[in-house]
Amino acid sequence: MKPPTASQIKGVINGFAHNSASLVIPILQAIQEKFGYVPPESLKAISRHTGVGRNKIYGILTFYAQFTTIPRGKYIVKPCRGTACHVRGANNVINHIKSKLNIEDGQTTPDYKFSLETVACLGTCFLAPAMMVNQDYYGNLDEKRIDEALKECT
Ligand code: FES
Repeated sequence: MKPPTASQIKGVINGFAHNSASLVIPILQAIQEKFGYVPPESLKAISRHTGVGRNKIYGILTFYAQFTTIPRGKYIVKPCRGTACHVRGANNVINHIKSKLNIEDGQTTPDYKFSLETVACLGTCFLAPAMMVNQDYYGNLDEKRIDEALKECT
């Protein structure tokens, strides 16, 4: 996956009004949605466009967990390692996913299709063991259900 060019980044930013500090977060969201992450090089262009200092934008970018400055996969696989899931086999779930994707927690597959990010609790303990793939929840996981869920990612 090639990093976006400066003109591609500007193309996204130019869709927003000039000199509006309140647009920093929507611009960051739009860049992340388009490219899967916010390239640090985009801060200068956002700063010029909005009039907000680069340091302040960087602070926003690193404060919110929704943003990432490194490329991630098209599908973010988030198996839960919380207590309810742990007692119902989360370790087996996580190990199976690692083995299927051939990556460790926090890594992305070389084709940028999947990233694996274990989480402390998804808030769906009644589905334990559970995981999310992007915005979709999967529960009562076993190897077959995991394989099916990953196969749905095309
Ligand atoms: S502990 Fe896994 S969803 Fe809550």
